[in-house]
Amino acid sequence: MKNKIALITGASRGIGKAISIHLAAQGVFVIMHYASNDKAAHQTLDEVNAVGGKGILIKSDFSSMKGIDCLFEELDKVLEGNKIDILVNNAGILNRFNLENITEAQFDSQFSINVKSPFFVTQQALPRLNDGGRIINISSYLSKKPKYEYGAYAMTKAAIDNFTISLAIALGPRKITVNAIAPGSVDTDMNKDRFQDLKVKETVGKMTAFQRVGTPDDIAKAITLLTSDAGSWITGQYIEVSGGLGLVK
Ligand SMILES: NC(=O)c1ccc[n+]([C@@H]2O[C@H](COP(=O)([O-])OP(=O)(O)OC[C@H]3O[C@@H](n4cnc5c(N)ncnc54)[C@H](OP(=O)(O)O)[C@@H]3O)[C@@H](O)[C@H]2O)c1
Repeated sequence: MKNKIALITGASRGIGKAISIHLAAQGVFVIMHYASNDKAAHQTLDEVNAVGGKGILIKSDFSSMKGIDCLFEELDKVLEGNKIDILVNNAGILNRFNLENITEAQFDSQFSINVKSPFFVTQQALPRLNDGGRIINISSYLSKKPKYEYGAYAMTKAAIDNFTISLAIALGPRKITVNAIAPGSVDTDMNKDRFQDLKVKETVGKMTAFQRVGTPDDIAKAITLLTSDAGSWITGQYIEVSGGLGLVK
Protein backbone atom coordinates (compact mmCIF):
# COMPACT_ATOMS: atom_id res chain seq x y z
CA MET A 1 0.00 0.00 0.00
CA LYS A 2 3.06 2.25 0.13
CA ASN A 3 2.95 5.24 -2.28
CA LYS A 4 -0.84 4.96 -2.57
CA ILE A 5 -3.02 8.00 -1.98
CA ALA A 6 -6.55 7.88 -0.57
CA LEU A 7 -9.27 10.52 -0.37
CA ILE A 8 -11.67 9.82 2.48
CA THR A 9 -14.71 12.07 2.94
CA GLY A 10 -16.09 12.61 6.44
CA ALA A 11 -12.79 11.56 7.96
CA SER A 12 -12.81 13.67 11.12
CA ARG A 13 -14.96 11.36 13.21
CA GLY A 14 -16.42 7.87 13.49
CA ILE A 15 -16.02 5.44 10.61
CA GLY A 16 -14.10 7.84 8.33
CA LYS A 17 -11.59 8.48 11.09
CA ALA A 18 -10.99 4.74 11.65
CA ILE A 19 -10.61 4.19 7.89
CA SER A 20 -8.01 6.97 7.71
CA ILE A 21 -5.97 5.56 10.61
CA HIS A 22 -6.08 1.99 9.24
CA LEU A 23 -5.03 3.05 5.73
CA ALA A 24 -2.34 5.39 7.05
CA ALA A 25 -0.92 2.62 9.24
CA GLN A 26 -0.40 0.61 6.03
CA GLY A 27 1.55 3.42 4.40
CA VAL A 28 -1.24 5.07 2.41
CA PHE A 29 -1.08 8.89 2.25
CA VAL A 30 -4.52 9.90 3.51
CA ILE A 31 -6.31 13.04 2.37
CA MET A 32 -8.94 13.51 5.04
CA HIS A 33 -11.96 15.62 4.25
CA TYR A 34 -14.31 17.02 6.90
CA ALA A 35 -17.08 19.63 7.11
CA SER A 36 -16.57 21.87 10.13
CA ASN A 37 -15.29 20.09 13.24
CA ASP A 38 -11.68 21.39 13.31
CA LYS A 39 -10.92 19.91 16.72
CA ALA A 40 -11.98 16.39 15.76
CA ALA A 41 -10.18 16.65 12.41
CA HIS A 42 -6.88 17.68 14.01
CA GLN A 43 -7.24 14.89 16.58
CA THR A 44 -7.62 12.44 13.67
CA LEU A 45 -4.52 13.84 11.98
CA ASP A 46 -2.60 13.44 15.28
CA GLU A 47 -3.72 9.80 15.47
CA VAL A 48 -2.68 9.22 11.85
CA ASN A 49 0.77 10.60 12.70
CA ALA A 50 0.88 8.49 15.87
CA VAL A 51 0.65 5.27 13.83
CA GLY A 52 3.53 6.47 11.65
CA GLY A 53 1.19 7.59 8.88
CA LYS A 54 1.07 10.70 6.73
CA GLY A 55 -1.86 12.77 5.62
CA ILE A 56 -3.50 16.17 5.34
CA LEU A 57 -6.89 17.68 6.14
CA ILE A 58 -9.25 19.44 3.75
CA LYS A 59 -12.27 21.28 5.13
CA SER A 60 -15.36 21.76 2.96
CA ASP A 61 -19.09 21.58 3.57
CA PHE A 62 -21.04 19.49 1.07
CA SER A 63 -24.29 21.35 1.72
CA SER A 64 -23.73 23.06 -1.62
CA MET A 65 -21.90 22.21 -4.84
CA LYS A 66 -19.48 25.02 -3.96
CA GLY A 67 -18.20 22.80 -1.12
CA ILE A 68 -17.44 19.99 -3.55
CA ASP A 69 -15.63 22.36 -5.95
CA CYS A 70 -13.65 23.70 -3.01
CA LEU A 71 -12.58 20.16 -2.01
CA PHE A 72 -11.14 19.52 -5.48
CA GLU A 73 -9.44 22.93 -5.71
CA GLU A 74 -7.61 22.09 -2.48
CA LEU A 75 -7.00 18.49 -3.56
CA ASP A 76 -5.29 19.62 -6.77
CA LYS A 77 -2.90 21.78 -4.74
CA VAL A 78 -1.98 18.74 -2.63
CA LEU A 79 -1.71 16.29 -5.50
CA GLU A 80 0.56 18.51 -7.65
CA GLY A 81 -0.33 16.45 -10.73
CA ASN A 82 -0.33 13.07 -8.97
CA LYS A 83 -3.49 10.98 -8.79
CA ILE A 84 -5.39 9.25 -6.02
CA ASP A 85 -5.71 5.45 -5.82
CA ILE A 86 -8.60 5.11 -3.37
CA LEU A 87 -11.80 7.10 -2.92
CA VAL A 88 -13.99 6.43 0.11
CA ASN A 89 -17.36 8.20 -0.07
CA ASN A 90 -18.08 8.11 3.65
CA ALA A 91 -19.44 11.54 4.72
CA GLY A 92 -23.07 11.27 5.68
CA ILE A 93 -25.82 12.52 7.96
CA LEU A 94 -28.76 10.80 9.59
CA ASN A 95 -32.05 12.60 10.12
CA ARG A 96 -34.39 10.34 12.10
CA PHE A 97 -37.64 11.65 10.63
CA ASN A 98 -40.38 9.53 9.18
CA LEU A 99 -42.95 10.36 6.52
CA GLU A 100 -45.32 12.08 8.94
CA ASN A 101 -42.89 14.56 10.44
CA ILE A 102 -40.09 15.22 7.89
CA THR A 103 -39.95 18.67 6.28
CA GLU A 104 -38.90 19.35 2.70
CA ALA A 105 -35.70 21.01 3.95
CA GLN A 106 -34.78 17.96 6.05
CA PHE A 107 -35.50 15.63 3.13
CA ASP A 108 -33.37 17.79 0.81
CA SER A 109 -30.42 17.97 3.22
CA GLN A 110 -30.55 14.19 3.71
CA PHE A 111 -30.38 13.59 -0.03
CA SER A 112 -27.92 16.42 -0.64
CA ILE A 113 -25.24 15.09 1.74
CA ASN A 114 -25.83 11.35 1.35
CA VAL A 115 -26.58 11.07 -2.39
CA LYS A 116 -25.78 14.22 -4.35
CA SER A 117 -22.38 14.71 -2.68
CA PRO A 118 -20.92 11.22 -3.27
CA PHE A 119 -22.28 11.34 -6.83
CA PHE A 120 -20.58 14.63 -7.69
CA VAL A 121 -17.47 13.92 -5.59
CA THR A 122 -17.07 10.77 -7.69
CA GLN A 123 -17.66 12.74 -10.91
CA GLN A 124 -14.79 15.10 -10.03
CA ALA A 125 -12.62 12.30 -8.60
CA LEU A 126 -12.70 10.08 -11.69
CA PRO A 127 -10.21 12.06 -13.82
CA ARG A 128 -7.95 12.21 -10.74
CA LEU A 129 -8.17 8.47 -9.94
CA ASN A 130 -5.56 6.03 -11.21
CA ASP A 131 -6.67 3.05 -13.30
CA GLY A 132 -6.71 -0.03 -11.07
CA GLY A 133 -7.98 2.11 -8.20
CA ARG A 134 -10.73 1.51 -5.69
CA ILE A 135 -13.98 3.29 -4.89
CA ILE A 136 -15.85 2.41 -1.72
CA ASN A 137 -19.25 3.90 -1.01
CA ILE A 138 -20.50 3.73 2.56
CA SER A 139 -24.05 2.45 2.47
CA SER A 140 -26.04 1.03 5.41
CA TYR A 141 -27.76 -2.23 6.32
CA LEU A 142 -30.92 -0.09 6.30
CA SER A 143 -30.78 0.18 2.50
CA LYS A 144 -31.88 -3.43 2.17
CA LYS A 145 -33.64 -3.72 5.53
CA PRO A 146 -35.44 -0.38 5.71
CA LYS A 147 -37.22 0.78 8.83
CA TYR A 148 -40.06 3.27 8.66
CA GLU A 149 -38.62 5.48 11.39
CA TYR A 150 -35.42 6.00 9.37
CA GLY A 151 -37.52 7.31 6.44
CA ALA A 152 -35.47 9.18 3.91
CA TYR A 153 -32.09 8.07 5.32
CA ALA A 154 -32.64 4.45 4.26
CA MET A 155 -33.73 5.68 0.82
CA THR A 156 -30.47 7.61 0.40
CA LYS A 157 -28.46 4.46 1.07
CA ALA A 158 -30.53 2.45 -1.45
CA ALA A 159 -29.58 5.12 -3.99
CA ILE A 160 -25.90 4.60 -3.10
CA ASP A 161 -26.22 0.84 -3.69
CA ASN A 162 -27.73 1.50 -7.10
CA PHE A 163 -24.98 3.99 -7.98
CA THR A 164 -22.33 1.46 -6.86
CA ILE A 165 -23.48 -1.12 -9.40
CA SER A 166 -23.71 1.20 -12.42
CA LEU A 167 -20.34 2.71 -11.55
CA ALA A 168 -18.72 -0.73 -11.22
CA ILE A 169 -19.91 -1.61 -14.72
CA ALA A 170 -18.71 1.69 -16.18
CA LEU A 171 -15.28 1.52 -14.53
CA GLY A 172 -14.53 -2.15 -15.26
CA PRO A 173 -12.51 -1.26 -18.38
CA ARG A 174 -10.29 0.94 -16.16
CA LYS A 175 -9.91 -1.95 -13.66
CA ILE A 176 -11.31 0.23 -10.91
CA THR A 177 -13.36 -1.73 -8.37
CA VAL A 178 -16.48 -0.13 -6.87
CA ASN A 179 -18.20 -1.59 -3.83
CA ALA A 180 -20.70 -0.60 -1.17
CA ILE A 181 -19.86 -1.36 2.44
CA ALA A 182 -22.99 -1.48 4.55
CA PRO A 183 -22.34 -1.05 8.27
CA GLY A 184 -24.87 -2.20 10.85
CA SER A 185 -25.22 -0.20 14.06
CA VAL A 186 -21.89 1.40 14.88
CA ASP A 187 -20.90 3.27 18.02
CA THR A 188 -20.24 6.75 16.58
CA ASP A 189 -21.60 10.26 17.08
CA MET A 190 -24.35 9.38 14.60
CA ASN A 191 -25.85 7.09 17.27
CA LYS A 192 -24.78 9.14 20.29
CA ASP A 193 -28.30 10.18 21.24
CA ARG A 194 -29.58 6.57 21.06
CA PHE A 195 -26.59 4.82 22.63
CA GLN A 196 -26.41 7.25 25.55
CA ASP A 197 -29.12 4.98 26.87
CA LEU A 198 -27.01 1.92 27.59
CA LYS A 199 -30.10 -0.30 27.58
CA VAL A 200 -30.76 0.66 23.96
CA LYS A 201 -27.13 -0.01 23.08
CA GLU A 202 -27.26 -3.41 24.77
CA THR A 203 -30.55 -4.32 23.06
CA VAL A 204 -29.18 -3.42 19.62
CA GLY A 205 -25.95 -5.27 20.40
CA LYS A 206 -27.87 -8.40 21.32
CA MET A 207 -29.34 -8.47 17.81
CA THR A 208 -25.89 -9.29 16.38
CA ALA A 209 -24.22 -12.69 16.40
CA PHE A 210 -21.47 -11.23 18.59
CA GLN A 211 -23.81 -9.58 21.10
CA ARG A 212 -22.42 -6.07 20.71
CA VAL A 213 -22.79 -3.03 18.48
CA GLY A 214 -20.08 -2.38 15.88
CA THR A 215 -17.03 -0.18 16.30
CA PRO A 216 -15.55 2.09 13.61
CA ASP A 217 -12.56 -0.30 13.55
CA ASP A 218 -14.84 -3.21 12.58
CA ILE A 219 -15.83 -1.27 9.45
CA ALA A 220 -12.34 0.04 8.66
CA LYS A 221 -10.96 -3.52 8.58
CA ALA A 222 -13.39 -4.44 5.80
CA ILE A 223 -12.29 -1.38 3.85
CA THR A 224 -8.63 -2.31 4.16
CA LEU A 225 -9.50 -5.71 2.68
CA LEU A 226 -11.17 -4.10 -0.34
CA THR A 227 -8.33 -1.65 -0.87
CA SER A 228 -5.67 -4.38 -0.64
CA ASP A 229 -4.64 -6.68 -3.48
CA ALA A 230 -7.02 -9.28 -1.97
CA GLY A 231 -9.89 -7.07 -3.10
CA SER A 232 -8.90 -6.79 -6.75
CA TRP A 233 -11.59 -9.24 -8.03
CA ILE A 234 -14.43 -7.87 -5.89
CA THR A 235 -16.57 -5.28 -7.64
CA GLY A 236 -20.18 -4.12 -7.84
CA GLN A 237 -20.91 -5.75 -4.49
CA TYR A 238 -22.97 -4.82 -1.47
CA ILE A 239 -21.09 -6.07 1.57
CA GLU A 240 -22.88 -5.91 4.90
CA VAL A 241 -20.43 -5.43 7.77
CA SER A 242 -22.70 -5.66 10.76
CA GLY A 243 -21.66 -8.62 12.94
CA GLY A 244 -24.77 -10.34 11.61
CA LEU A 245 -27.17 -7.65 12.83
CA GLY A 246 -30.71 -9.03 12.80
CA LEU A 247 -29.64 -12.71 12.80
CA VAL A 248 -30.55 -12.85 16.48
CA LYS A 249 -34.10 -11.68 17.21
N1 LIG B 1 -22.84 4.92 12.62
C1 LIG B 1 -23.61 3.97 12.09
O1 LIG B 1 -24.25 3.17 12.83
C2 LIG B 1 -23.72 3.83 10.61
C3 LIG B 1 -24.43 2.73 10.11
C4 LIG B 1 -24.55 2.58 8.73
C5 LIG B 1 -23.96 3.50 7.88
N2 LIG B 1 -23.28 4.56 8.39
C6 LIG B 1 -22.70 5.52 7.44
O2 LIG B 1 -21.32 5.62 7.68
C7 LIG B 1 -20.86 6.93 7.31
C8 LIG B 1 -20.09 7.55 8.46
O3 LIG B 1 -20.96 7.59 9.58
P1 LIG B 1 -20.43 7.89 11.07
O4 LIG B 1 -21.32 7.16 11.98
O5 LIG B 1 -18.96 7.71 11.13
O6 LIG B 1 -20.81 9.46 11.16
P2 LIG B 1 -20.26 10.62 12.13
O7 LIG B 1 -19.47 10.06 13.25
O8 LIG B 1 -21.46 11.44 12.43
O9 LIG B 1 -19.26 11.44 11.17
C9 LIG B 1 -19.79 12.09 10.05
C10 LIG B 1 -18.68 12.63 9.17
O10 LIG B 1 -19.30 13.26 8.02
C11 LIG B 1 -18.91 14.63 7.96
N3 LIG B 1 -20.03 15.48 7.53
C12 LIG B 1 -21.18 15.71 8.22
N4 LIG B 1 -21.92 16.65 7.58
C13 LIG B 1 -21.23 17.02 6.47
C14 LIG B 1 -21.42 17.98 5.45
N5 LIG B 1 -22.48 18.79 5.43
N6 LIG B 1 -20.49 18.10 4.47
C15 LIG B 1 -19.38 17.30 4.47
N7 LIG B 1 -19.11 16.39 5.44
C16 LIG B 1 -20.02 16.25 6.43
C17 LIG B 1 -18.50 14.99 9.38
O11 LIG B 1 -17.60 16.11 9.41
P3 LIG B 1 -17.49 17.06 10.74
O12 LIG B 1 -16.81 16.24 11.80
O13 LIG B 1 -16.68 18.22 10.30
O14 LIG B 1 -18.89 17.39 11.12
C18 LIG B 1 -17.85 13.69 9.84
O15 LIG B 1 -16.53 13.61 9.40
C19 LIG B 1 -22.12 7.71 6.90
O16 LIG B 1 -22.26 7.69 5.51
C20 LIG B 1 -23.23 6.93 7.57
O17 LIG B 1 -24.47 7.10 6.91
C21 LIG B 1 -23.15 4.75 9.74
